[in-house]
Amino acid sequence: MNWMHVGDAEELSITAARMLLSALATKPALVLGLPTGRTPEGMYRRVIGECSRQYYCFAEATTFNLDEYVGIPSSHPGSYCSYMKRNLFSHVDIDPDRIHIPNGMPPALTMRPPDISAVVALERECARYEEDLQGAGSLDLTFLGLGTNGHIGFNEPGTDFASRTRIVRLTEATRRANAEHFPGEEVPGHAITMGIATILESRSIVLMASGSKKASVIRRLATESTSDSLPASALHAHKNVLVIVDSAASALL
Ligand code: GLP
Repeated sequence: MNWMHVGDAEELSITAARMLLSALATKPALVLGLPTGRTPEGMYRRVIGECSRQYYCFAEATTFNLDEYVGIPSSHPGSYCSYMKRNLFSHVDIDPDRIHIPNGMPPALTMRPPDISAVVALERECARYEEDLQGAGSLDLTFLGLGTNGHIGFNEPGTDFASRTRIVRLTEATRRANAEHFPGEEVPGHAITMGIATILESRSIVLMASGSKKASVIRRLATESTSDSLPASALHAHKNVLVIVDSAASALL
């Protein structure tokens, strides 16, 4: 695991955006794994800015998002599908057919889990997502954010490192952390997420952490040995991981 220390969130965003754009320039048919959350918003803003200034073409790129909530339509403002449209896809020349985001509300889904027909429909969606990923030739470059409890994607503490795309129950801490995206309503209790094994198949991975709220989990990542109590520690086993941290997130190192 390689570490890069940058000053602040702005510098982190510029650095990550450069990496994404240069990978895209080197290999236009790049297969990207993409995160959501507050941390990557600045990266996406920079990517959009550069794309309009210089010729960087997403037309041949394929993207796979890490996760999506279950039980809300993709048009819901709190969905990761809406997030991606707002923050990236509506502003670049990506082919909509090459965008992949798990569908947390497949057509057969009439009721929320644990209704059995809902579970079957969602499990089918997870299997389809894995197939699409394999069909695309697996991920070239994946960007990750980091939950304060060490989650990557929505792989919460206790996740098996052999896990693949599946339905997960969100912890109360994670639901609270994401409550601002669901004003006046409940945060979904479940999500579909790429598994840890799925993420680790990416040829290279960039983990981004910014701000003082991430300081303690970054300390854990830097000092603790690999354990399922810290899902991000699975990245220790990967040969090509870069962790970019700003000074607030690395304050306890
Ligand atoms: C959500 C996402 C994760 C993301 C995390 C951190 O839980 N599912 O993929 O890494 O938020 O978000 P933030 O960057 O807002 O701290």
